[in-house]
Amino acid sequence: MKIFTIIGARPQFIKAAAVSRVFKKTSRIKEIIVHTGQHFDKNMSDIFFEEMSIPKPDYNLEINSLSHGAMTGRMLEGLEKIILKEKPDFVLVYGDTNSTIAGALTAKKLHIKVAHVEAGLRSFNMDMPEEINRILTDRISDILFCPTDTAIKNLRNEGFDNFPATIIKNGDVMYDAALFYKTKARKPNVNLPAKFILATVHRQENTDDIKRLKSIFNALETISKETKVVLPIHPRTRKKLESSNITPSNIMLIDPVGYLEMIWLITHSELIMTDSGGLQKEAFFFEKPCITLRDETEWVELVINGFNTLAGADYDKIITSYHKFWKNKPEFNIELYGKGNASDIIVQSLLRQ
Ligand code: UD1
Ligand code: UDP
Repeated sequence: MKIFTIIGARPQFIKAAAVSRVFKKTSRIKEIIVHTGQHFDKNMSDIFFEEMSIPKPDYNLEINSLSHGAMTGRMLEGLEKIILKEKPDFVLVYGDTNSTIAGALTAKKLHIKVAHVEAGLRSFNMDMPEEINRILTDRISDILFCPTDTAIKNLRNEGFDNFPATIIKNGDVMYDAALFYKTKARKPNVNLPAKFILATVHRQENTDDIKRLKSIFNALETISKETKVVLPIHPRTRKKLESSNITPSNIMLIDPVGYLEMIWLITHSELIMTDSGGLQKEAFFFEKPCITLRDETEWVELVINGFNTLAGADYDKIITSYHKFWKNKPEFNIELYGKGNASDIIVQSLLRQ
């Protein structure tokens, strides 16, 4: 069976690493990896392939730094050529980026079956490019691998029981990755304080709205006077800070790090503050409270169970949430994202097709 894995952005490398490890264990599957090139800096792309032993991509389309339409359009064109040439049995896409929708749409129009990992997630905010990408990808997928009960419920509410798609709850492949790679965690090569908060900010809704960006960075600056905030900065955010003349002086900005360094930072931090999807879950996997710098989350079970709080970009809410979690750390005692075998379930399900 020929499986085409389409990835392009940082979180997809991490997810694909977990599944690829299982593909390697069976001779019945030949995986062909296509990197769209969406992320391309060494520390946003190559580092993950090297550190996590992901097979070198068979193709790299090198499509990046374009508007949504241009990026997705060029990906469709590039992917069509190689899918026609390789004729895979399945195209496997992850998450909710432009690379995800491009992969799914190209394959479906060529009548190649599509499997979507991280299906069924919703923020119910149609202004997010990710929400558009994930809804459209789900609708044209043949197999929907859902990480949570909420994801399954979302699909049912949208009438997916009436569509010719197979819905499977497999758990979260990011949990598989966290369990496997945690023993390989590595301290980043920077001087770090003994106690710190780990933060990331990269969402379009925060970086491209100057009011939100300023408010978030003001709050992090204030908190950082008390507990140092270490923030590996996404290139998109660095550019926006520069063009908006925001110059944090208390926050410790560092270059983006690889996954192994990131696990080290998570496990040694006191608290996570982020607008990242993946990092919200990793906070939970490594038993750290999380303040989410968004108005909504797809990972609602984290909020319902008190592990995560939504502070949005509101200065006061961010400061209040920090004080709340500083005093009362939650107890991490439930299983929300499966048993760490989400990737095995994907591979077994594909083999049964
Ligand atoms: C993308 C995804 C987002 C995901 C994120 C993971 C979409 C619509 N968004 O957002 O869902 O959470 O990846 O990190 O697909 N850049 C560099 N070097 C890089 C990568 C990006 O300089 O290696 C800069 C480029 O100038 C680019 C900008 O960052 O224009 C934004 O990159 P892009 O891939 O469009 O979106 P992300 O913000 O990374
Ligand atoms: N990550 C990383 N290095 C960094 C920042 C994030 O390895 O400098 C990891 C993070 O631990 C998580 C994934 O990248 O596994 C999340 O990616 P990102 O926040 O870019 O995207 P999202 O999950 O929001 O789509």
